[in-house]
Amino acid sequence: MATKRAYIETYGCQMNISDTELMQGILAEQGYAAATSPEDADVILVNTCAIRDHAEQRVLGRVGQLQQFREGRPEVVIGVTGCMAQRMGADLLGKAGGVDLVMGPDAYRELPAKLASLRSPAPTPQAPRGLTVLRFDPHENYEGVEAKRISGLVAWVPIQRGCNYRCTYCIVPYVRGDEKNREPPQILAEVRRLVDDGVVDVTLLGQTVNSYEHGDWDFPRLLRAVARVDGIRRVRFTSPHPNDFTRELVAAMAEEPTVCAQLHLPVQSGHNRTLKRMLRRYTVEAYREKIAWVREAIPHIALSTDIIVAFPGETEEEYEATLELMREIRFDDAYLYKYSLRDGTPATRLPRDQFIPDDVAQARLQKLIATHREIQAEINRAEVGRVVEVLVEKEARRGGLQGRTESNKVVTFAGPTSLVGSFVDVRLTATSGATFSGVWTGAIERVA
Ligand code: 5AD
Ligand code: SF4
Repeated sequence: MATKRAYIETYGCQMNISDTELMQGILAEQGYAAATSPEDADVILVNTCAIRDHAEQRVLGRVGQLQQFREGRPEVVIGVTGCMAQRMGADLLGKAGGVDLVMGPDAYRELPAKLASLRSPAPTPQAPRGLTVLRFDPHENYEGVEAKRISGLVAWVPIQRGCNYRCTYCIVPYVRGDEKNREPPQILAEVRRLVDDGVVDVTLLGQTVNSYEHGDWDFPRLLRAVARVDGIRRVRFTSPHPNDFTRELVAAMAEEPTVCAQLHLPVQSGHNRTLKRMLRRYTVEAYREKIAWVREAIPHIALSTDIIVAFPGETEEEYEATLELMREIRFDDAYLYKYSLRDGTPATRLPRDQFIPDDVAQARLQKLIATHREIQAEINRAEVGRVVEVLVEKEARRGGLQGRTESNKVVTFAGPTSLVGSFVDVRLTATSGATFSGVWTGAIERVA
């Protein structure tokens, strides 16, 4: 039998990208080859996100488009995996022209078996096929699965799945279940293997990554151990929850030279009443204090955040407080969203008249984005002229090379392709506001 080929398209967060790598690993183990486009795939999977309605609408459109690849090949299987699969379940089977398999994030080990059972016979309009695998497994953390990673230099290592918080807007706990933490020796062994294979930049992943706990291990201890793996150059983590952000963690970040001077710490709102109604379990004052700790310990740290505007009941004054916090903290980067209603989450039970009309929500979002962009451009313009160390990751789309700095900022510059995989010194010469262009100084350190 010819080798089967699987194509996986990924939507959403880094955890989902990491899950796609897991699925590729699980499929490769059973003899599937990875397809680079849907045309030559026998199995087409869409690994989805459920965090906002917009993300789901995009996927439904895409699944409709993918039907064309079944033309003349009715045996092709189209599957939907990930958070939206878990949320919508069997409802997805009839959607967008036909979905054969709906599989949630705890069931990926069963992927090859379910695909085999679906492949024959080919479906007909009278006998469509369709399988859903949606159970939660409180122990499934995919230990022992060899992920098939996309990049050879940069890797994401999931240390935790699920979430024990219950922020009232958020669907994640309902589609990914409770927090599950991997064992430290397994995590460390995986990081060592990656570094032996040439990875130099590792990001530890978890929904609330710094709540990580396993036996005597907490997150600062794990971070220190990962940071000391021989040969590792850059260690990052995402996303921490402000509540679990401790002085011990700041100390680990400041003291371990390989931990990058970069922190993504979602704040969600700049007003205590909104934070309380979001069930975030911290105050603006507490958040501010934690930012002060980290800035004191690591003065040049690059900060980023997530914010939701127009949470039901958010007043103009509360929104203004968020703008004010943005101006005060001056984040290097920010992911800004309009509240999106997610069925099944506590916030949907708020009185209807508290829901913010879309034009108001849109205006709040636009103004916050504009404020952030201005600040970001100011911060980045002040960096122009500096020489920074860049890990060269790939050829840039518009020619030249592209890499990232320790603070996770993207830099493009001219140079030979042979620099890919090296750390080089680049003088920053201009900024678009968000990213930089620069000139290679000629200094190079090959690591790959
Ligand atoms: N609506 C809008 N944004 C949301 N997020 C999570 N749930 C929602 C929602 N219902 C945002 C939060 C989170 C990020 C990953 O997505 O800011 O930190
Ligand atoms: Fe969602 Fe809150 Fe958990 Fe983050 S901490 S995944 S926002 S419930």
